[in-house]
Amino acid sequence: MYNQPMLRDDALKGKTIVVTGGGTGLGRAMGTYLLQLGANLVITSRKADVLQKTAEEMEKETGGKVLAVSCDVRDYEQVENVLAETLKTFGSADSLINNAAGNFISPTERLSANAFSTIIDIVLKGSVNCTLAFGKHWIREKQAASVLNIVTTYAFTGSAYVVPSACAKGGVLAMTRSLAVEWGKYGIRSNAIAPGPFPTKGAWDRLLPGELAEQFDFKNRVPLKRVGDYQELANLAAFLVSDFSSYINGEVITIDGGEWLQGAGQFNGLEAIPDDLWESFAQMTRAAKGS
Ligand code: HXC
Ligand code: NAP
Repeated sequence: MYNQPMLRDDALKGKTIVVTGGGTGLGRAMGTYLLQLGANLVITSRKADVLQKTAEEMEKETGGKVLAVSCDVRDYEQVENVLAETLKTFGSADSLINNAAGNFISPTERLSANAFSTIIDIVLKGSVNCTLAFGKHWIREKQAASVLNIVTTYAFTGSAYVVPSACAKGGVLAMTRSLAVEWGKYGIRSNAIAPGPFPTKGAWDRLLPGELAEQFDFKNRVPLKRVGDYQELANLAAFLVSDFSSYINGEVITIDGGEWLQGAGQFNGLEAIPDDLWESFAQMTRAAKGS
């Protein structure tokens, strides 16, 4: 059931939605579902060939209309061009999904200053650039709109070995909550999704290279004992850019099967204790009553 489309047909008809990093992975999955719900879609990323191929495949699969615009989100002028091309093709833009990201695992002390900046520039500055360009346009045009930022659960917990990404995603989360308040008066909503593990080539090649994928199997970290299905993320994203979520503003919704909490609770590790030991523990803890 969780891998089934959730919203009713045509739920996004007439809306134009821009997805950064929309040519691959989760951006592609979300974009495909938005098209199925009747939205016009704009996808952007650096690789024009990947984008073009994805756009053609998406149109074929859904019958919808996709505009592919190559853009490095680190460059504000290129972002402004995405806005201009969107308006030229579709007449308006209703939602922006800041999904583009860069990441790799590394002990922090091995990173060059440029390696650190590269991730901050793509994730934080890229999301800021897109939000600023589209936000200025919406405010000028007095148009209600929404921004959806794809962050991670370590945006609020932090994480070793992906420190530039954690810093950047934490910043994006701060922007989400700040603008939800500041731009609420313009009818611009800001929300975020914090996904747990949803295996994609982009993320897995950079975060779990070689044998690490087997040694560090994410599903063992998730209380529900599985990784995420793209459709359940797409369902949540579609809901958050739709008018059905009109009163949700400034929220970050975690979709991780309970993964981050599993790492947080002090006694969560007791999962490893076999059932038959619990009876003797019960006797010992009850016996402690009088001590
Ligand atoms: C250490 C590295 C490195 C690595 C690059 N650098 N890779 N340092 N370890 N593995 C350093 C380089 O040496 C250079 O510094 C600087 O970083 C910039 O590298 P470039 O290759 O010039 O950058 P660029 O071409 O802009 O590519 C960006 C990238 C690349 C981030 C490095 O991996 C990329 O394009 N990624 C996009 C897709 C992606 O990352 N997807 C995963 C998102 S997953 P010097 O000092 O040498 O100049 C995600 C999910 C998290 O966020 C949660 C999952 C569960
Ligand atoms: P992905 O396929 O590698 O997606 C990243 C996308 O960002 C790519 O399409 C890439 O395209 C684009 N991109 C990178 N640098 C860019 C730049 N400078 N300008 C424009 N576009 C750029 O990985 P993914 O797993 O689908 O990740 C999508 C989002 O989900 C990311 O925000 C990630 O942090 C988040 N997330 C993923 C997981 C997971 O388990 N997969 C978990 C938590 C959060 P180009 O290379 O063509 O530019």
